[in-house]
Order: sequence, then structure tokens, then C-alpha cells
Amino acid sequence: MRVSIVGSGYVGTTIAACFADLGHEVVNIDIDESIVEQLNAGTPPIHEPGLADLVSTHAGDRLTASTDYEDLLDTEVTFLALPTPSNEDGSNDTSIIEAAAETLGATLAATSDRHLVVVKSTVVPGTTETVVAPAVEAGGDLTRGEDFEVAMNPEFLREGTAVEDFRHPDKIVFGTDTAFAGDRLNAVFDPLVDASNADTAVVETGIREAEMIKYANNAFLASKVSLINELGNICKAYDVDSYEVADAIGLDDRIGARFLRSGLGWGGSCFLKDVSAIAAAGRAKGYDPVMLDAAVTVNDRQPVQLLSLMDRHVDVAGERVAVLGLSFKPGTDDIRNARSIPVIEGLLERDATVVAYDPVASDRMREQFPDIEYADSPEAAVDGAAAALVVTEWDEIAALDDAFDTMATPVVVDGRRAIDRRDGIIYEGLTW
Ligand code: UDX
Repeated sequence: MRVSIVGSGYVGTTIAACFADLGHEVVNIDIDESIVEQLNAGTPPIHEPGLADLVSTHAGDRLTASTDYEDLLDTEVTFLALPTPSNEDGSNDTSIIEAAAETLGATLAATSDRHLVVVKSTVVPGTTETVVAPAVEAGGDLTRGEDFEVAMNPEFLREGTAVEDFRHPDKIVFGTDTAFAGDRLNAVFDPLVDASNADTAVVETGIREAEMIKYANNAFLASKVSLINELGNICKAYDVDSYEVADAIGLDDRIGARFLRSGLGWGGSCFLKDVSAIAAAGRAKGYDPVMLDAAVTVNDRQPVQLLSLMDRHVDVAGERVAVLGLSFKPGTDDIRNARSIPVIEGLLERDATVVAYDPVASDRMREQFPDIEYADSPEAAVDGAAAALVVTEWDEIAALDDAFDTMATPVVVDGRRAIDRRDGIIYEGLTW
């Protein structure tokens, strides 16, 4: 099939390369000329394992990039994979996707072929029908139902495993309200479903339901982690090993074993944004989303709790403190909403000298905290430190052992259960 994707960000580039790999002819549109040049030269604009191979294999062949919407004219379906940033109140700012939908409409006015417009971006229920479709209509004086149809296809890719997740999804969700849209989406994803030997569940549902499924998915996962964190905090107070508790309750199918690792909590580009947006959407309709608000409150508390455990053992004013791990999870250099940020802020409030280590995220963090020290190795970070705080469970951080003997005071506060408790160090697990 001939498929176009508007947006060459993290989701857009990944799905463009993966669709090309499935055998489709793919055009990826972005307003950023340097991204388009990069893609056409065979280099992805983001780092994702496996993506560089796919882009270099298909660029200039089944995968082309362009800044010109006209280049999508002979495609049959367009996915909108554009950012929906947060407003002050947590709600979604849809202006970027709206503007793109208008330009798409203006472009589609030149063809009489009926087109399918698929929203890939995370948007609150109703947005595809009441914001995106009218923008396409307005852009080209078009009529939904005649000139084009809309659909919603949410994305569940995780950073660091996005290509693998694309190839082996737990589910694919099609939100449609016409047979035309359902048939065309099925045709796009058929090669993927066939390759998975039908292990992949295809959920065919309404457009609003598809929009909500994405929020429900992320709100559930974020709340699951916050709930195990809350239970973990109580475990810690009663000297109970929360990981043994989690292992046991995870055996219950109704609970499930994953996303039960208590500790410093969640970060990344999605959880906070999505929980906040769907909470704001509830509030806009007069509903008070107490559980969603609590998930954020518990998450905000975990770094505070980590610092207060450190305070029990050492006064860090004027002392070196190692922050081990900066990215929001191992395997990525993404520091958006990373738990390292409130940890560093709390240390600076205490007048500590912060020495941070991360294998890949230091450059990004330097833009946010230019005045703290960045060590080249975890060993160098802990050398002479009065405390070491484990924030991200990178392998080389989890492997630290003898290095703790070089600390001024060997206080290790572990936010990720990465380090083994042993004699000779003062070890505090955050929730165990
Ligand atoms: C998430 C969703 O998983 C994905 O489906 C969606 O498309 C985008 O948001 P991602 O942000 O890449 O993906 O991260 P994920 O691997 O889900 O981890 C989220 C956060 O939760 C990380 O900070 C991780 O450290 C934390 N986490 C996860 C825990 O604290 N405990 C756990 O048990 C699991």
C-alpha cells in the first residue's frame, strides 16, 4: 500500500520505517528540513535500537521523507503522528495536529480519491471527530464521508524497544466508524498480523473508544506503579520486603507480575502527560478524578522519600553526593520527567555538591543543570561522596560494589533495588 505519515518524531519515524519494512511505500512528511534530509540520507533523527538499520535499508527506496505535503497525494492513508503538548492545566494542546489536518485537507483537495486520515497522536475522546475531521474539511473545503474518512489508531510503543514493540504488539486498536476506514486500516496492518501468526489481538472499536484506550492503558500502568509504591512505603515502615510481597501478588492473574517494581516511580514523556490530560478531561466534564490525581501525588513523593532516607544518615550540606543514573529508565537518554530531576533539585536545596553519572544522558541533563559535576564513570561519581543515590538501574550502576568503599561515608540509598545490601555499606532501600 501507499502510506503517508505526518510527523517524524519518535512515533512517526518508527512507524514509517516499520511500515516500509512491512512492504508498504511510505512517505514521511515533516516541516523540519534537517530531519527530512537526515531521513533521506538513511539516518533516523532519534535513537531507537533497530531503527537505524531499517531506515538505512529502506530510505530512498520504499521510505522517502519530504517537507512538502503534495508528496503524500498519491498515498491511500495518512497517519498523523504529531505532538500534543500539555497546557498549564494538564489538558492537551491540539493546535499542532489541527494545523497539520488543515494543510492535509488543502492538499487532498487536489485529488478525487477518497482518503483515510488516521490520528496516531494521543488525543482525548472526541478530538478526532470534533477537531481533526473539521480541520481537514476546512483546509480543503472537503466533506467527511465523501472525500475522506477518519480513524484513530493509538500507539503503545515503549522507548528503547519501539521497533520490537511494533513487530510484536500485544494489541492493535482500530477506532473507526465506517467499513471503508476499517478495511483500509486492516490492509495496512495485515502484513504485521500475518507475520505474528495471529498472536496479535486486533481490537476493532469506535473512534472515541480507541482514543480512550490509550489513556486508560497509560493511566492504569502509572497507577499500578503508584499503588505498589504506596504499598512499598508502608512495607518499608514495617520492615517488610515489598519485592517479596510484589512477587507473591503478581502470581494472581488478576494483578499480573509486571509493573510491580516499587521505588522512585515513573518518568518519561507519556505517563505524566497522559494521566494529567485525561484527569483534566474528566474535570472539564465536572468529574473529580481522585485516583488519577493520587497516582501523580504518590509519584511526586517518592524522590522526597529517597532524600529523607538519606537525611537520616548524613547531613550532605557542603558534601559530595553521587546521583547514579539520570535518564527516566535504562536504555534511553530521555530525561523528560525523569526522577533524577527532583532528586538533584532536593540535593541543591541542601547545598550538596552534586556529582551525576549516566552512560548516555549527561549531555541532555547538562542543558538543565549546567553547574553540577558530571562524572565519566559510576566509580568516579561515588569516589569521596558522602552519599550515593541510585536513580536509574543501568547495568553498570547495578554492578557497583567495591567502589562504595571509596566513599567518604558509605551511605547508599537505592531507589531501584539495583544494589545488593552488604556489610561495610549503610544501605537503605527506598521501599524495602
Ligand atoms: C510508556 C508505555 O509503556 C507505552 O505503552 C506508551 O506508548 C508510552 O509510555 P515508556 O514511557 O517508554 O512507555 O516507559 P515504560 O517502559 O512503560 O516505563 C515507564 C516508567 O515506569 C519508567 O520510568 C519506569 O522506570 C517506571 N516503572 C515501570 C516503575 O517504576 N516500576 C515498574 O514496575 C515499571
